[in-house]
Amino acid sequence: MSKKTAATSSGGLAIETAGLVKTFGENRAVDGVDLAVPAGTVYGVLGPNGAGKTTTVKMLATLLKPDGGEAHVFGHDVVREADAVRSRVSLTGQYASVDEDLTGTENLVLLARLLGHSKSASYARSAQLLEAFGLTEAAGRQVKNYSGGMRRRIDIAASILNTPDLLFLDEPTTGLDPRSRNQVWDIVRAVVAQGTTVLLTTQYLDEADQLASRIAVIDKGRVIAEGTKGELKASVGAGSVHVRLRDAHQRPEAEQLLKLTLDAAVTLEPDPVALTARVGGAGNGEAAAEQASRALAELARAGITVDNFSLGQPSLDEVFLALTDKKPESGTQSELAEEAAA
Ligand SMILES: Nc1ncnc2c1ncn2[C@@H]1O[C@H](COP(=O)(O)OP(=O)(O)OP(=O)(O)O)[C@@H](O)[C@H]1O
Ligand SMILES: [Mg+2]
Repeated sequence: MSKKTAATSSGGLAIETAGLVKTFGENRAVDGVDLAVPAGTVYGVLGPNGAGKTTTVKMLATLLKPDGGEAHVFGHDVVREADAVRSRVSLTGQYASVDEDLTGTENLVLLARLLGHSKSASYARSAQLLEAFGLTEAAGRQVKNYSGGMRRRIDIAASILNTPDLLFLDEPTTGLDPRSRNQVWDIVRAVVAQGTTVLLTTQYLDEADQLASRIAVIDKGRVIAEGTKGELKASVGAGSVHVRLRDAHQRPEAEQLLKLTLDAAVTLEPDPVALTARVGGAGNGEAAAEQASRALAELARAGITVDNFSLGQPSLDEVFLALTDKKPESGTQSELAEEAAA
């Protein structure tokens, strides 16, 4: 990955950190994080449980004091100019922070009043957000009776009563069903379309893939990779060939052939007619395409019918697994199948 520009001017950057550190006793929860988040974009911070995502967000939102390094939000130091930072940012925490005993409307109106809006303006803004987030029907119901997805939406609504310049969304879709996740994703897209910068933490690769233009992968308090989605995928250094066969019985033969032709790991997918293989280990696009077409020709010569064939970049899942040095499950299956076949 290219070296970050943390020390240079913050032109166009919403967030800039250099060597950010937070320790809890012996535990370096955040261990020298450099970030440069361009304004007006969704920036994804991707990492497993305990990676240091929430701790990083709390420092940037001035809720926790760093033990080392520096962080600027729109050019303001998060420690020395905390008030200036607070006036520009809003945080939707990992755990919903609205009052359970109040209704949706009561929560939003109360917060709008606290932000200094008049009573009528508070009601108008609340009704507008409840409508936009599909919560009008539930507006008069106590939040403790909301579903998980509804709670997440009211929490995000609460954090954008005043349109912030920078919105922190800490794992906004953890535990949500696919439909609710999609609704939250749409909300995030709408918020960014209005000019807000979003720092989104997530454990889900597909979420970062869907929403973020740049991604920092963090593990054990450190940034282990950073870049655009394309750069991260390219950093794994290979393309993926996806093959779908007509006949599942031909899969073992196809697997052997692809292994021989490509001299690469072949993964058996859960779908019994599908296989994936790595090509172009040197990251050379042309070589990858050549290898892929050679493999296809070999399959045809062996009388294996291919229904569908594609050459693409590796998924972010593959990138993450490669970066964190963990073997994908399906790779293990493939190795077992190989042993069985031998
Ligand atoms: N207040 C605290 N006191 C002590 N240790 C803490 C505190 N907050 C976080 N930690 C520790 O710091 C590390 C990073 O935690 P953090 O909550 O930032 O992770 P995370 O990436 O947000 O994880 P998750 O995906 O589970 O939310 C963990 O080891 C955690 O136990
Ligand atoms: Mg967290």
